[in-house]
Amino acid sequence: MSDAYNPANDGAQMSFKDRMSYGDYLQLSKVLDAQEPRSDAHDEMLFIIQHQTSELWMKLALHELYAAREAMLTGNLSHGFKMLARVARIFEQLNSAWDVLRTMTPSDYTRFRNDLGQSSGFQSHQYRLIEFILGNRNAAMLKPHEHKPEVLELLEAELAQPSLYDVALSMLNKTFALPETVLNRDLRSNYSASEPVTEAWTKVYQAPEAHWQLYELAEKLVDFEDYFRRWRFNHVTTVERIIGFKRGTGGTGGVSYLRKMLEVELFPELWHLRTSL
Ligand code: HEM
Repeated sequence: MSDAYNPANDGAQMSFKDRMSYGDYLQLSKVLDAQEPRSDAHDEMLFIIQHQTSELWMKLALHELYAAREAMLTGNLSHGFKMLARVARIFEQLNSAWDVLRTMTPSDYTRFRNDLGQSSGFQSHQYRLIEFILGNRNAAMLKPHEHKPEVLELLEAELAQPSLYDVALSMLNKTFALPETVLNRDLRSNYSASEPVTEAWTKVYQAPEAHWQLYELAEKLVDFEDYFRRWRFNHVTTVERIIGFKRGTGGTGGVSYLRKMLEVELFPELWHLRTSL
């Protein structure tokens, strides 16, 4: 072919000297310059990009979760539902991403593991914020962030807010009176299940048509927790496949710690009610 196709003839903008380009808008020079492997191991790039993309998705998850809580507080439930559905899909995306990381063998990982020092996802402040907003709150997890006052402040501020589940319970309370101990609990502490809450959610599930919004809210929360559990399970399985039962770079027992985390119930009564239904 003598005349190569020129998209400019179809109107494509080809000159960006004085206008904002795709890369400018997305600040790609910042994003794509942020990968600095510490070794010459081929797989370190995969490891870095997998973590960075996960953090970007977590950033979006937080953006949606904050807005979902706000929507629930201001009675804009359908907006809140839409955002919760999106957060579940974000976790689905994160779940699929493990397939890429699983192509890294234990031998590949040992080539650069020492270069990570003591750094670990355990110190991901966005992951901790997600847990805190959902209601899995443990003030001991603030400690690794003490060296970064702006991050510590973010985490502290979240612990002072009612969690997403607290907000869901205040909505439940409008139809089924819940005990003061539930409504005025210490927000910094982890939420623990209570029988009156299970009974109230059970009534919602016994008559979904009569309590449709609460029913829909509950199912959205369960749906999200389902994806979140899969993320934890995929993580621990990938970790076992790559490092076996070695301690984590962050210093925990590794797989033993992550298995303990599989027991976490974010919205406990929503799971418990199913047995008695
Ligand atoms: C080779 C791949 C990976 C290995 C071997 C690994 C290993 C571990 C281990 C052993 C822990 C426990 C803490 C410690 O002692 O270090 C941990 C925690 C964690 N990792 Fe990974 N990880 C991997 C990939 C990822 C990826 C891709 C992410 C995505 C951001 C991630 C996020 C986290 C988070 C958020 C925690 C804290 C979990 C909690 O406290 O419940 N990890 N990881």
